[in-house]
Amino acid sequence: MIVTLFQGLYRINVMEDYQPSQPIAFPHDRHAGVNGIDCKYCHNSVTKSKSAGIPSVNVCMNCHKQINGEGKPFAGEIKKIYAAAGWDPAGAGKYTGKTKPIVWNKVHVLPDHVYFNHSQHVVVGGVDCKQCHGDMKTMNETAKVQPVEELNKIEGNVQLTKPTLTMGWCIECHGKKDVKIGDGKNAYYDEIHRRLKKDPALYKKYYKDGKVSVSELGGWECAKCHY
Ligand code: HEC
Ligand code: HEC
Ligand code: HEC
Ligand code: HEC
Ligand code: HEC
Repeated sequence: MIVTLFQGLYRINVMEDYQPSQPIAFPHDRHAGVNGIDCKYCHNSVTKSKSAGIPSVNVCMNCHKQINGEGKPFAGEIKKIYAAAGWDPAGAGKYTGKTKPIVWNKVHVLPDHVYFNHSQHVVVGGVDCKQCHGDMKTMNETAKVQPVEELNKIEGNVQLTKPTLTMGWCIECHGKKDVKIGDGKNAYYDEIHRRLKKDPALYKKYYKDGKVSVSELGGWECAKCHY
């Protein structure tokens, strides 16, 4: 009885399914889905830096100054955008100068001792957002941490077994995912390829299964992920 309780507790994951409440009921499907807005329009640092970034209220205003939701059930949500931007829509509309930033709650949270970099995964590694966040284009509520079982249902995703955002999840993918090297499309890997060729024994070892995984390039080293 106690044993099964412990086993049960061990498998409970504190991160999967986490969906904090948000100040505005922002649905991704309306934006990235039906209206086809690119992820990078709002998360504009995702290909350039460590973090993806969350859009400021000015980004919302680019569209919602016009799309005011009048007569729609979501009109109240758009009013919250106006309150944050200090926009008075009466008449021709004007900025009052009284702003109050929208405080979005963080959904995906890693402990402070872990280093994760978006551009490294998205640009260098060529990993799609869907692999780690699910299909946001169909998400009709605020974001949540998708359980690994859900991520596995998405076509093209590497199949993983460890709960999303745990160390096991990172490690498992680094062991399974191969990197495209020596195809002339990525200077970083071409450099690795060039160095590997100088060491035939290592080159042979890495290529024994016809591919080079992230772990073979150091993706299992503690210091790569831990400060
Ligand atoms: C119109 C702007 C907009 C677009 C386009 C957009 N997002 Fe977002 N995204 C937001 C906002 C606002 C939040 C914060 C609210 C929330 O967490 O649901 C957010 C939150 C997220 C989160 C959770 C962030 C966290 O705190 O962990 C992920 C992941 C995400 N978006 C991925 C995507 C992906 C992938 C795409 C493209 C398919 C995309 N977004 C397109 C505005 C946008
Ligand atoms: C390899 C997995 C992975 C991929 C691929 C990935 N993300 Fe993330 N994402 C994460 C993790 C892990 C975090 C939490 C980072 C942290 O807390 O330091 C995160 C956090 C976020 C956040 C919250 C803000 C931030 O930067 O912490 C947004 C927004 C987001 N991702 C959007 C995207 C978008 C858009 C894409 C595709 C262009 C993408 N992610 C691709 C794993 C991934
Ligand atoms: C590129 C244009 C664009 C941007 C930028 C944009 N939106 Fe929207 N938003 C739309 C459109 C189009 C709709 C759908 C309107 C409709 O269905 O009548 C919409 C609808 C909404 C809705 C109502 C959705 C529903 O059906 O319940 C909310 C809430 C919303 N947006 C919040 C935001 C927030 C918050 C931001 C900034 C983080 C933002 N939007 C940025 C274009 C945009
Ligand atoms: C879906 C697969 C996948 C997941 C999940 C994943 N990664 Fe990665 N990771 C990659 C790929 C592909 C690369 C190769 C890009 C490169 O070599 O720079 C990479 C590279 C890295 C690197 C650079 C390694 C090096 O040798 O320079 C670090 C650090 C890293 N990931 C951290 C993380 C952390 C932390 C997590 C979990 C929160 C994570 N990754 C989850 C696929 C993944
Ligand atoms: C690919 C990235 C990655 C690598 C490599 C990695 N870790 Fe982690 N580690 C994480 C992530 C993400 C977490 C936080 C999530 C969790 O606790 O599962 C974590 C958590 C931990 C924790 C738990 C701390 C706590 O809060 O309980 C310890 C201890 C740890 N790692 C040690 C190591 C050691 C030792 C190595 C090398 C043998 C290593 N890690 C390699 C990503 C990594």
